[in-house]
Amino acid sequence: MLPSRDIYTFFKHIGNSAKIIFSNKNHVVRNFYVSANYAGQVSFKLSDIGEGIREVTIKEWFVKVGDKVAQFDEICEVQSDKASVTITSRYDGIIKKLHYKIDEMASVGRPLVDIETDAEGQEQEKVQVTNEEPVEEKPIETSKNEPGMEVLCIPSVRRLAKEYKIDLSSVKGTGKAGRILKEDILKYLEKGAVHEVSREVLHDKTEPIKGFQKAMFKTMTDALKIPHFVYSDEITVSKLSELRRTIKTLPEGQDLKLSFMPFFIKAASNALQRYPVLNATLDTSGENIVYKGQHNIGIAMDTKAGLAVPVIKNVQKLTIIEINNELNRLIASGRNGTFSPQDLSDGTFTISNIGAIGGTYMKPIIMTPQVAIIALGTSQVVPRFDDANNVIPVEVLNLSGAADHRIIDGATMARFVQTLKKQIQEPYLLFLNQ
Ligand code: COA
Repeated sequence: MLPSRDIYTFFKHIGNSAKIIFSNKNHVVRNFYVSANYAGQVSFKLSDIGEGIREVTIKEWFVKVGDKVAQFDEICEVQSDKASVTITSRYDGIIKKLHYKIDEMASVGRPLVDIETDAEGQEQEKVQVTNEEPVEEKPIETSKNEPGMEVLCIPSVRRLAKEYKIDLSSVKGTGKAGRILKEDILKYLEKGAVHEVSREVLHDKTEPIKGFQKAMFKTMTDALKIPHFVYSDEITVSKLSELRRTIKTLPEGQDLKLSFMPFFIKAASNALQRYPVLNATLDTSGENIVYKGQHNIGIAMDTKAGLAVPVIKNVQKLTIIEINNELNRLIASGRNGTFSPQDLSDGTFTISNIGAIGGTYMKPIIMTPQVAIIALGTSQVVPRFDDANNVIPVEVLNLSGAADHRIIDGATMARFVQTLKKQIQEPYLLFLNQ
């Protein structure tokens, strides 16, 4: 190979057919653009991969000498002490040399592979040589194209710019007569990426855990001691939805805000009558179960101040409309931040309607000292089979219940959920206290 200065002199003597472009840094890389018939060889160097990484180990080559590569084709995978990175080609052409073997250390800024560039795919052919010594320099201008100046490039470059939503007038072309090359677009993208990263200076923030979050921290930390038995089932809510729709057509129901919740609260209370161990607490010694006389059902509520669990007291005595009134009062208090201490105390069982936000499956966590909780997913219409094996649309909702497995066995929890389910699927049962 000719020493770089000789190559420089050689091209200088070609006269107008040779355009010499130098790197804007005072070293090593010089790109020589020549007229179309010269096959070019590029030393593709390992570029800066960020995080201050200067050296990497070659983990795997995806190419070998003689392979044809296109821009963005994977060349190799390198590993630093911080990350594993896949290096992709910036050129179209044929691999002429791999500079490292697997497990060798490669340095940033040093040649990785030599690529003979593809004359057809490139605007111009290019010879690039690497040399440690500085030579006569002529920096690339980094200013934008002049306004109104014609932008020259081949269609594939225009397509690339369009793909990345780049305004070609802001890219400096380094090709013949200022033509924009694929390489210029790639450089522009690299610069843009650096700017993106440097703009995002993210600071850590420390703040105390307080308010509802503090209460959640305590109850959930206590809950870690509880082995949760979680049981889930799909509940058909088509009839319940129809019932709600019908109520809304009645004069008494027109101004009523009546969601699924009052029905589930009533169904849970009815089922708790049958399985009172789920409406219980463990005493502090952990040796006694305290069966609670009242069904004080806590409703997990997403408020501006965080998760609150206000309680509807004595649900076993309330009608669905009374439950609904109390629920709406608590929702309003949550919205206005006006819960009283009584609103937030003495719960014996909890229902979380996370489905009001979205989602199908969940694993609810018991609020100590209670021993059980249920959570509802979002209802949705899905295809199911009827008794005659016809596919019909059915509105379903997934329910998950969790119980303290130290004192509640799986069969009890399953029976409790099935009792609740039956009432929701056949809502008239709600009024028969089943
Ligand atoms: N599936 C489908 N639709 C649902 C639904 C569900 N699971 N839950 C509520 N909806 C519908 C309601 O029917 C209502 O529609 P409509 O106006 O047509 O009747 C609408 O969504 C708004 O309901 P919402 O105002 O939320 O009332 P609600 O009585 O269903 O629920 C709360 C009240 C307080 C439970 C609820 O607002 C909430 O805060 N849920 C989040 C609970 C949470 O954060 N749990 C996680 C604890 S870790």
